[in-house]
Amino acid sequence: MKRRLRSLSGIKPTGTPHLGNYFGMVQPAIALQETHEAFYFVADYHALTTGRDPALLRRTSLEIAATFLALGLDPQRSVFFRQSDVPEVVELAWHLSCVTGTGLLMRAHAYKAALDKGEAGVLPAGTFFYPVLMAADILLYDSDVVPVGRDQVQHIEMAQDMAGHLNALYGDCLRRPEALVEAAVATIVGLDGQKMSKSYKNTIEVFLPEKALRKLVMSIKTDGAGLDDPKTPETDNVFSLYKLVATPAEVDDMAERYRAGGFGYGHAKQRLADALNAHLAAPRERYHALLADPAALDDVLREGAVRARAVARDTLDRVRDRVGLPKLPR
Ligand code: ADP
Ligand code: TRP
Repeated sequence: MKRRLRSLSGIKPTGTPHLGNYFGMVQPAIALQETHEAFYFVADYHALTTGRDPALLRRTSLEIAATFLALGLDPQRSVFFRQSDVPEVVELAWHLSCVTGTGLLMRAHAYKAALDKGEAGVLPAGTFFYPVLMAADILLYDSDVVPVGRDQVQHIEMAQDMAGHLNALYGDCLRRPEALVEAAVATIVGLDGQKMSKSYKNTIEVFLPEKALRKLVMSIKTDGAGLDDPKTPETDNVFSLYKLVATPAEVDDMAERYRAGGFGYGHAKQRLADALNAHLAAPRERYHALLADPAALDDVLREGAVRARAVARDTLDRVRDRVGLPKLPR
């Protein structure tokens, strides 16, 4: 029987999730559980390249897990786990690194940024190696599609290259995946109109209490147009976020009011805050309830890891066999 296409993605537990993560990655990934066999994980190994606080890592890992579950990930239908519960991924990363030129890794955006700042020499080797571990994540589970925001596409192309190298050298044993970037949510804007990112400190966290959410929405940057002036929806940050949560009729209505004038950014922000709050109120409650029981969250992740690990070990056995190593000890 033909298996369903497999969707895989991960998110680093390096901060509290924001609307960029939610609309750009979490929501599209969760939607794919309807049509795909979904494998999603908390990328805690990856977080170690920058994090140095064990207690914080434990807490943010649980926050990411609670976020996915609160927003609709179904751990019965999907395989939901913690990356480090399947340490086989580190071995696959080793095999990939043995067939990957350092030149490929030197083209990574993060490496080039460090080079530009004159910091390549002090960049942790783990950060240089980051794309190899990420390729191993993707290839270990025979993924077909990888739903992510646009900033991750380069990493997926690298995973394709690495799979290609290993397959060319040893014969086909790894499936080559495709990135899945939804154009409408490829880059969610932040408070200042740049890409929303924790590095830019312009984020709106997904599960802020209502009051704090409203306050942040009021601080979104807009152009200087006055209340009576006509406004351009296409270039406005408030409108851009409103489109993500409003119905098509509500979006059309707001666009008309912008163009007509007499509708100020204050009004638009009120509407956005109402719509966001309506969208997030129920998940916010679920999120806090889930976080209140860390042991139960841990159980969900452990059960997911058992299912993930079975697939991982099969793939790794295939690779081990090709390169001339014995099968994994059982
Ligand atoms: P950050 O930029 O805040 O550090 P991450 O790099 O941890 O966020 O991103 C986690 C996931 O969320 C990735 O799949 C990424 O593509 C997606 N993502 C992050 N920010 C955005 C955004 N502003 N728009 C769309 N997707 C995003
Ligand atoms: N690099 C991704 C990020 O920063 C996280 C990640 C790790 C990932 N492994 C992955 C995403 C595999 C997709 C597939 O968000």
